[in-house]
Amino acid sequence: MSDKPLNIGLVGGGKGAFIVHPHQKAIHMDGTRRIVAGALFPDPKVALEEAANWPYPIKGYGSYDEMIAANATAPADEKLDYILIVTPNFVHYDPAMKAMKAGIAVFCEKPLCLNLKEAAALVKTSRKLNVPFALAHTYLGHWTSRLSRYIVQSGLLGDVRWVDSHYIQGWLASKLEATGQQQAAWRVDPKRAGGSGCGGDIGTHALMQLRYVTGLDVTDLSAQLETFVQGRMLDDHFTIYCKLSNGGKALVRASQICIGHKNDLGITVAGSKGTLVWKQEDPEKLVIHLPNQPDRVYWRGAVTPGDGFLPKNVPADLMAEPTIPSGHPEAFHDAFARLHRCFESDVRKWKAGKKFNCDGSKYATVEDGWTGLAFIETCLKSSGKKGAWTAMPKKI
Ligand SMILES: NC(=O)c1ccc[n+]([C@@H]2O[C@H](COP(=O)([O-])OP(=O)(O)OC[C@H]3O[C@@H](n4cnc5c(N)ncnc54)[C@H](O)[C@@H]3O)[C@@H](O)[C@H]2O)c1
Repeated sequence: MSDKPLNIGLVGGGKGAFIVHPHQKAIHMDGTRRIVAGALFPDPKVALEEAANWPYPIKGYGSYDEMIAANATAPADEKLDYILIVTPNFVHYDPAMKAMKAGIAVFCEKPLCLNLKEAAALVKTSRKLNVPFALAHTYLGHWTSRLSRYIVQSGLLGDVRWVDSHYIQGWLASKLEATGQQQAAWRVDPKRAGGSGCGGDIGTHALMQLRYVTGLDVTDLSAQLETFVQGRMLDDHFTIYCKLSNGGKALVRASQICIGHKNDLGITVAGSKGTLVWKQEDPEKLVIHLPNQPDRVYWRGAVTPGDGFLPKNVPADLMAEPTIPSGHPEAFHDAFARLHRCFESDVRKWKAGKKFNCDGSKYATVEDGWTGLAFIETCLKSSGKKGAWTAMPKKI
């Protein structure tokens, strides 16, 4: 295995873009990955200007087609190891598909693409070509999400009876899109965002958090997709009652119209022996409630296995994941870094011709992306039938 930093090419990220910046900080956090190229904007001239103005030298391309084509003949040390897709949802499918076919691994923003048909094609291609593929469900990268998953899936809370997974925001409580605000404008446009606005944008995060922490799937759902802001084309409020694969129930809810709420993502898992509560705006800790006992608060980096609740044999790789001592807070960028770090490990194995995982335990996969789209399409069907219980499609 080479010690050379992995080379990453950006698709999107120019002119006032948002999510590229947390990603690029996270990519450079370990010194083992670096951004070397980018197709940063739809207009080729602007794309090249933006690349020339990037805070450190990168090779600019007029389009992602050019960037992917150039890779075939690039010298070995300039070849891209993966691309990072940080464009609006309607520009995920095409670059992801073309990159895989050109033998480049893909780290793609969520939701995976616009619809289930595109999602199925991406899953099939990644399997056929055996290319690593990560989906940027950021919040799985918090160490406390990893610990939550361990606690719930090792049965420490008993049977999961009820889950409340939510993502509540307030930034679209008025018609921000009418001002031309970049991030709002495409998110409320079905051609660029997909069939659901709020659900696709942040409901998919709430679903992913539920599936990641509990290991359970939604089997049936009853959905209400609502639009509170007049004249908006897509839902801005998303409330889904769910049946889970173990017979439990869940509420997956998201909203963009709750003034004062910022990125209020959180999960409550109520089991037959206890309850877990985690909040991403306070991501360094999780709380366990047990009957007739004081609450237990577990802080990242300050967990002692064998403490009367956690067993002695908490997996060593989980215990090793925090990068800085507890009390020096990790947050959003660190969560992204953990995802890129784990993806890097799989990309390096793949490049060395070894078996790699992409099993969903360290970052969300292309299959998780398919499930997100399946969930959205089932929600749209149910909501169109006044919330009638509707089955999720069979897994791909
Ligand atoms: N994981 C998270 O927590 C998280 C948070 C925010 C956004 N997102 C996702 O990230 C994606 C981008 O969201 P954003 O808020 O950063 O959007 P944005 O509008 O801020 O940025 C999008 C960028 O893509 C560029 N772009 C558009 N079409 C292009 C093309 N054909 N070629 C090259 N560049 C092109 C735009 O010029 C812009 O630079 C979305 O899919 C969104 O759902 C994820």
